[in-house]
Amino acid sequence: MASGHVRAFISIVMLLCKEYTVTSLELLELRVPTHVPLGTRPSLSCRWRLSPTDILYSVKWYKDGKEFFRHVPRDVEPRRKFLLPGVDVEQSTPNASNVTLYPAVLETGGRYRCEVSGERPLFPTVSDHADMIVVALPSTGPVITGSRLRYQIGDRVQVNCTSGRSRPATRLSWYINGEPAPLSSVLEPELYKHEDGLETTSLVLDFKAKPKHFRKGDLKLKCLATIATVYWRSNEESVQGERSKGYSRSKESLEGASRADRVQAASKSGYRGHNMPPLPVILLLALVLHFPTRFYKM
Ligand SMILES: *[C@@H]1O[C@H](CO)[C@@H](O)[C@H](O)[C@H]1NC(C)=O
Ligand SMILES: *[C@@H]1O[C@H](CO)[C@@H](O)[C@H](O)[C@H]1NC(C)=O
Ligand SMILES: *[C@@H]1O[C@H](CO)[C@@H](O)[C@H](O)[C@H]1NC(C)=O
Repeated sequence: MASGHVRAFISIVMLLCKEYTVTSLELLELRVPTHVPLGTRPSLSCRWRLSPTDILYSVKWYKDGKEFFRHVPRDVEPRRKFLLPGVDVEQSTPNASNVTLYPAVLETGGRYRCEVSGERPLFPTVSDHADMIVVALPSTGPVITGSRLRYQIGDRVQVNCTSGRSRPATRLSWYINGEPAPLSSVLEPELYKHEDGLETTSLVLDFKAKPKHFRKGDLKLKCLATIATVYWRSNEESVQGERSKGYSRSKESLEGASRADRVQAASKSGYRGHNMPPLPVILLLALVLHFPTRFYKM
């Protein structure tokens, strides 16, 4: 009987202890920006909940498993930072819930962890982690080279798109008349790594011009450059003209001529007056479309 009571008492105590460790301290949220542009100050924050009967022992911040900042209220020096390459705390709240780092360099990227511990006797500890990528955005949009002024049906279209220097590497893709270019017409991307850790990508589009490529006389080539969700830019060239020899004059070719007339005003290639080029598949215009660059924090 007595031992039964003892056992019941022990199990109640254990239950309370379990309850205590589960609910006394809880990590509510860790916020780490996923993509940080080079040279900007990343702000990280950690929210936790401590039961009113508990006392905070420590808040510690780690990057790639190494501690760089700690707050231990009972310590002589309640807040301390430890220098890591590319990681230095510039500002923090008194309880270390929020930290702002000095402007990001490439080494600032990595896995960040926030660890919160309660006081004796149980030292409950909770932690969470999140990854940060430091992004060096290209200062220029993609550049298209190798495009000729005129193409005729049967010609080999061979153009090269090159990204600005970035990190991580920019992803390029080609579109023909707004449709993704078939894999068979796109070569393997070339990657060039610069000494400063930035990368340049280039991608060659290579295909034979067929009638189907000229939609109402237009051939549009677009190169799209992206980096995750933070960068999005494209460059487009539009080529236009009449059908090649052997094609009956059709409504389409007349349309082509009227378009070519318009080109005289806009084109820099300088066709004059009535001197329409004989087999013209001419470069209509080179559009540079600048989409806004966006950053998504979190
Ligand atoms: C801490 O960071 C959170 C989330 O970024 C923010 O909402 C809050 O205002 C910050 N608190 C302080 C005291 O800076
Ligand atoms: C930490 O301090 C900030 C103000 O400096 C406060 O807003 C926040 O609630 C505190 N966090 C915790 C978990 O006590
Ligand atoms: C494409 O252009 C880049 C930059 O000018 C160059 O490094 C690369 O070799 C070119 N690729 C081809 C296949 O011409």
